[in-house]
Amino acid sequence: MTETPSRLVTAVILVAAGSGQRLGYGMPKASVPLGGEPILMHALRGIVSSGTASQVCVVLPAGDDALRKLCADFQEELADGGPLLSVVDGGATRADSVRAGFEALMDGIEAVLVHDAARALTPEAVFHRVADALAAGAEAVIPAVAVVDTVKTVAPTQGPDAAVAPELVTGTAPREELRAVQTPQGFRVETLRHAHRAARDLEPEQAAAVTDDAMLVEMTGTPVHAVRGSIQSLKITTPLDLIFAEGLLEGPLGARWVEG
Ligand code: C5P
Repeated sequence: MTETPSRLVTAVILVAAGSGQRLGYGMPKASVPLGGEPILMHALRGIVSSGTASQVCVVLPAGDDALRKLCADFQEELADGGPLLSVVDGGATRADSVRAGFEALMDGIEAVLVHDAARALTPEAVFHRVADALAAGAEAVIPAVAVVDTVKTVAPTQGPDAAVAPELVTGTAPREELRAVQTPQGFRVETLRHAHRAARDLEPEQAAAVTDDAMLVEMTGTPVHAVRGSIQSLKITTPLDLIFAEGLLEGPLGARWVEG
């Protein structure tokens, strides 16, 4: 019988320092109520119940006392043996916020899962698939789902055709090779540290184009593996996403529901 490799000592960096402007609530997204509780609480509970983290570094909007208090209360609520909760202020970009979380890692951490608080309903199974791939030897692993839409590249229409439509199609990506990428993204701690250090030398334009941590690791030439994500792990970004998330909280969608 083959033995399951044992899990690495893992910290989750939960980035929650975004403004949430696209959600239009006039407050940081992490504070927006979902099923009567702030989005951040759902994200925290999901991480803790997955049992994958020895430490959770929560990265909050600088000076947000209400969210800090929420984290302090949650730490008290955690039964003995729960993960250590550390709270730090975020930065101007998502990458800055991840780096801020890094500063708070306790000694002995071997792997880091970077998770968006906006993916507050990520099923536990996704955390497990990522943690298992790291235990099996991956340096970097991301959860991903197949893309259902056909995806095309476009460019602004030039010349007289600009009056016809604003954009012109320049190509069609082969859908079977495309994946929509989610979080938690898992890394050996030194792999991610190295990638974020290297990112400090990027030109501002390149830095602005970095939308996830795996991209930085790809740039260093380290292979990034992909495991199955979940459509339940939606990123709450727009008011419509919040409606979907409320629907998911209300329960399974019956016999037609297939976890994907
Ligand atoms: O805005 P974006 O879609 O990149 O946000 C993804 C996640 O990163 C969110 O959970 C958000 O709170 C977090 N974020 C952050 N610090 C920033 C920008 C975004 O922690 N400066």
